Amino acid sequence: MNILVTGGAGYIGSHTIVELVNAGHTAVVIDNLSNSSSESLRRVESITGVAVPFYKVDIRDREGLERVFDENSFDCCIHFAGLKAVGESVVKPWEYYENNIYGTLVLVDVMRKHGLKNIIFSSSATVYGDPAVIPITEDCPKGMCTNPYGWTKWMIEQILADLHAADVKNGCKDPWNAVLLRYFNPIGAHPSGLIGEDPSGIPNNLMPYITQVAVGKLEKLHVFGNDYDTHDGTGVRDYIHVVDLARGHVKALDAIEKKCGVGVYNLGTGVGYSVFDIVGAFEKANGVRIPYVIDPRRPGDVAVCYSDPRKAMSELGWKTEYGIFEMCRDSWNWQKNNPKGYGK
Ligand code: NAD
Ligand code: WQD
Repeated sequence: MNILVTGGAGYIGSHTIVELVNAGHTAVVIDNLSNSSSESLRRVESITGVAVPFYKVDIRDREGLERVFDENSFDCCIHFAGLKAVGESVVKPWEYYENNIYGTLVLVDVMRKHGLKNIIFSSSATVYGDPAVIPITEDCPKGMCTNPYGWTKWMIEQILADLHAADVKNGCKDPWNAVLLRYFNPIGAHPSGLIGEDPSGIPNNLMPYITQVAVGKLEKLHVFGNDYDTHDGTGVRDYIHVVDLARGHVKALDAIEKKCGVGVYNLGTGVGYSVFDIVGAFEKANGVRIPYVIDPRRPGDVAVCYSDPRKAMSELGWKTEYGIFEMCRDSWNWQKNNPKGYGK
């Protein structure tokens, strides 16, 4: 299949393109490079040996999108493009709603005008808010997001589901197919060390913070709270290797091909690790010490969040292959080989 990948120069997008090519698909990327560098795509080309056409286009730019559709024919869109910093979204909600929701509306409109009604969307565990049940199944209560970023994910899920429902109601012969993938905590990097996560400024997320401490860019890790009701007092999350996550998108394409309608899937491992578990695993895997201090809890954080991934396993035939050792090994391999990231 020929896939339009929005946000394909970013962390998860670049890894997904590698897996798409490995599975025999082709990809065309659009990205405005607001949080990435086209160097990631050059590296994807060197891993796969395949050229990846790239358009520096914003998803809010209707004319730019029209040009991409005029010059290509697509079977599906994998939609990664979006702003993703939870804390920033609280400070700049308008920017998040405009970029993520308005951008998706323009994208979807251009898609349908060109007869493309197949989409795989990057949603997030954040739609579960403070989870009512652990492990989290797809039908757990939702819609009580704790930040504007989370609301954009939840609203976009709703928009895509409504497009499908309206087509069905109207007796449309080719209704929208939408696979909504709720990612848990992606970490790790391609085992080649050529592509990985390249956050701008001081990282918000745990693993890039740890790797920047390990490489000497940051002095010590700040552990946000050690008084949670967990086995060691620190927050527990469902970390997933980005290559496993990327392969979930390839499996989702199979579902799209079978005209799945709306499919909603958690992409996680189903295993929860605490902050101290991750620090210990990182030190053990890489022989590097991570100094830390205990800080107060980060506002908005929940104690425990991990998935029940069985639906993706049974319906998509997806399973994770990498464990916490490989996640820590590959995160460090990327950071130590690229201390300045892509140099963007
Ligand atoms: P990323 O920032 O590395 O990638 C997103 C890409 O989208 C970037 O290359 C950015 O330049 C591009 N982009 C942003 N706005 C755009 C616009 N208006 N037009 C065109 N391009 C635009 O982030 P990522 O970690 O690869 O995340 C990819 C997707 O997965 C995002 O939608 C994110 O919300 C979602 N997600 C990420 C995580 C995570 O922890 N990384 C977890 C759950 C969901
Ligand atoms: C993990 C654990 C922190 C940094 C976020 C988004 C979520 C999704 C994934 C996009 C928590 C602790 C962290 C640090 C720490 N993204 N921590 N010191 O918050 O689970 O999820 O990214 O959709 O929507 O909310 O991930 O990596 O920030 O935190 O102690 O410097 O590490 O308190 O327990 P989180 P995280």
